[in-house]
Amino acid sequence: MSEAPEINSGLEGVVVAETSLSMIDGQNGILRYRGYDIDDLAQTTSFEEIMHLLWFGKLPNRSELERLEQQLRSHREISPTVKKVIASLPTTGAPIDSMRAAVTAMAMEDPDERSLEPGDIQERAIRMAAAFPTMLAAYLRLREGKDIVDPDKSLGEAGNFLYMLTGEKPTELQANAFNCYLILVAEHSMNASTFSGRVTFSTITDLYSAVSAALGCLKGDAHGGANARAMEMLLDIGTKDNVEPYVEESLKIKRRLMGIGHRVYRARDPRAKHLMGFSESVAEQKGNRTWHDVAVRLEDMTNEHPFFTERKLYPNVEFYSAPLLYSLGIPIDAMPAAFAVSRVVGWTANLMEQLEGMRLIRPQARYTGPETAEFKPIDERE
Ligand SMILES: CC(C)(COP(=O)(O)OP(=O)(O)OC[C@H]1O[C@@H](n2cnc3c(N)ncnc32)[C@H](O)[C@@H]1OP(=O)(O)O)[C@@H](O)C(=O)NCCC(=O)NCCS
Repeated sequence: MSEAPEINSGLEGVVVAETSLSMIDGQNGILRYRGYDIDDLAQTTSFEEIMHLLWFGKLPNRSELERLEQQLRSHREISPTVKKVIASLPTTGAPIDSMRAAVTAMAMEDPDERSLEPGDIQERAIRMAAAFPTMLAAYLRLREGKDIVDPDKSLGEAGNFLYMLTGEKPTELQANAFNCYLILVAEHSMNASTFSGRVTFSTITDLYSAVSAALGCLKGDAHGGANARAMEMLLDIGTKDNVEPYVEESLKIKRRLMGIGHRVYRARDPRAKHLMGFSESVAEQKGNRTWHDVAVRLEDMTNEHPFFTERKLYPNVEFYSAPLLYSLGIPIDAMPAAFAVSRVVGWTANLMEQLEGMRLIRPQARYTGPETAEFKPIDERE
């Protein structure tokens, strides 16, 4: 018998595709979208420009941007069927699950659901990204017994989402902060949800199914669910003074600090500083710095503690996303879904890329069960 192949259960270091979308240098804490440093994009561009960059390969000029903005605005409305599906869902579930249901309804309404023509894929990507904020805001309002707020064509993607969520036009700072958040989480190479979307798409299924799989994957606490868990942790800590005992207790009981650590980054996540800045300014404008200050104290403590420094555990993107999204009024359980509002762009850009040279992704497992087993009919079994 040949030697059993080595198992790599977390697939660390395994390269499964080529991509020109994003590049991560985990050692030095660098992230680039199509060669552009995230620091150059984060606070000087709109989320719509980043959509154009990721989907169409270049930062748009004015007329290209206007065209995309116009397409997005024309697809923000969700159909009566999708609205009905969202309205029929239990109000007690995870908001990100409502998006999975809504995406499925979108797919079932689409007569060309299975088309893999690049033009059709592009159009569906735009439609999905345009509809995601509307779907999420609709679910969050309906579950509280409020009316849905229709999209406002005068607002950009970030401002419009906050408007549909609260029914009030956001301040310029709030819209800019959420815009920056959307830019920062749009794409991140072969992360787990992108990979699961790619695995699903590789079976030659439809774009909606791949996005639906990615949504389920993003929900997990080790991935997009960590922003909600990080916020719960900050609330649990409660005050700056409680940070130290909380960390000591966490180490004693082996409880992970949420928003800390990363599979690829061995340095501070380059997105954290932008989120930290907006977390502070939005909290300041709101008149409640508590959660931002607790987060800062927690980061300071992990920067000083050998357990974290030896293992190179630093804040990841979720760490300051949590207090920022909280200050923006996004319910804690909806934070993973807010992540999806942006990451759907990265997912679909990856799926467009994958269309070229599509190949079934199908790894193997090492069998560890019995070599053979003697079959007995049901009445002869013990
Ligand atoms: C992101 C994450 C899953 C990456 O995990 P990973 O690459 O598989 O790393 P490991 O689980 O092998 O952890 C390596 C070591 O660091 C420790 N560690 C990792 N993240 C930690 C955290 N957030 N808090 C405390 N310890 C942590 C592990 O206990 C382990 O210690 P050990 O060597 O003594 O056993 C992990 O850091 C984590 O769970 N973070 C919290 C959740 C989170 O913020 N997720 C969002 C990611 S963007």
